[in-house]
Amino acid sequence: MDVESAAQAARARLAALPRPLGFVPTMGALHSGHLQLVRAAVERCRSVAASVFVNPMQFAAGEDFDRYPRDYAGDREKLAAAGVDLLFAPQTETMYPSGFSTIVDVGDLGSAYEGAARPTHFRGVTTVVSKLLNIIRPDALFLGQKDAQQTAVLRKLVRDLDFAVRVEIVPTVRESDGLALSSRNAYLSTQERAAAPSLHRALDVMLEKLRAGRDAVTARKTAWDVLQLPGSWDYLDVVDMDTFAPLEFLRAPAFVIGAARFGATRLIDNVLVSE
Ligand code: PAJ
Repeated sequence: MDVESAAQAARARLAALPRPLGFVPTMGALHSGHLQLVRAAVERCRSVAASVFVNPMQFAAGEDFDRYPRDYAGDREKLAAAGVDLLFAPQTETMYPSGFSTIVDVGDLGSAYEGAARPTHFRGVTTVVSKLLNIIRPDALFLGQKDAQQTAVLRKLVRDLDFAVRVEIVPTVRESDGLALSSRNAYLSTQERAAAPSLHRALDVMLEKLRAGRDAVTARKTAWDVLQLPGSWDYLDVVDMDTFAPLEFLRAPAFVIGAARFGATRLIDNVLVSE
């Protein structure tokens, strides 16, 4: 596996790789969820590039940018073992040199749910992913369903700005008790960790009620109490898969989405209802 931190050097390496080229963007501290994306890319593409970049623009002041887990040596080893051809690991100054000012923003889709909780988050994501797509120029972009709204936002970015890339969504990898793998799970105390799988169980209950024909408000009432203390809800809803508009009744394709706080840690999860 080649490793590059400069855009020009990465491009030069990529030019020599056979196409189609798959690309897996990450913020590192890699777990089996990230590696599942790499596996899907290796299976479906002839070459694979990955990036590790903890993007400061998608963290607001006071969020966990400084304490976000970092394990560059481990990441590098895991990506090489998984069959990645090129790792792009830029410095912050490479991505945001002094004077950098252009922002890419998809608008309303990025302002509800995760965007309401984190108002500048998605424009940080869309800006950095635009830059990464321009540097890597992949044929396929691999994203985890774990971040449902991010998949909708990035699919819209690709459509609206005519990026010549296919977006592939990979199902969420979970612990055996149902908790979605996340770098932030490392922050949970023993008690919080024990309660955390109830987030996924609540989403399943919400879906079960919706499938039985209940409206979202009624389904939410039942599912709300499934979340175990010390967990507390940020939101629980059913939304259109593309627009993230809330639905009154289940209509596929949709996501049942939830976000809950466990102490200082905020976890998100979702269930996809495909057609
Ligand atoms: P990060 O949180 O590192 O996640 C990188 C990719 O891994 C995302 O597409 C995410 O959805 C996926 N992922 C995380 N946990 C997963 C799980 N349990 N199962 C399947 N996939 C999972 O998402 C980001 O980074 C950033 O916003 C990024 C797109 C890299 C832009 O900075």
